Amino acid sequence: MGLCDDKLNRSLMLLIISKTGDNIVNIVYISGSPRKHSNTDYLLKLTLSITGGQFVKLSDYQIELCKACWTCQKLSRCTIDDEMNNIIIPMLLDSEGIVLGSSVYFNCVSAQLKAFMDRIA
Ligand SMILES: Cc1cc2nc3c(=O)[nH]c(=O)nc-3n(C[C@H](O)[C@H](O)[C@H](O)COP(=O)(O)O)c2cc1C
Repeated sequence: MGLCDDKLNRSLMLLIISKTGDNIVNIVYISGSPRKHSNTDYLLKLTLSITGGQFVKLSDYQIELCKACWTCQKLSRCTIDDEMNNIIIPMLLDSEGIVLGSSVYFNCVSAQLKAFMDRIA
């Protein structure tokens, strides 16, 4: 099963952020696709099956939008009380690598992934 399978022929944006560089063992794979059985999920889960790690589908979580309150600048953390702060951020802090995947929507990432990116900025 290669990366040129029909399911993967559509554009996918994949950004890999490695916090440690080598010996990555605990990788969190983030999918910004809201679609069930999505191409993004397929690609991320395929990679996860090789490396191990955890899969997070953002549309399964309650994630508020960034309000630009700048509290994060003062406290070095976001204070919005939602599943991004209570579930996803702790997973990311505990991880050694993060992989972001998204469907391409109007030559950009999906709204779900953009909301996620704004919250971890
Ligand atoms: C609102 C919307 C905007 C899209 N914009 C683009 C685009 O700009 N370029 C592109 O190649 N595909 C675009 N597509 C197609 C999706 O990127 C494509 O179907 C992708 O494989 C979906 O990924 P997913 O199955 O992981 O959700 C768009 C689809 C939707 C629903």
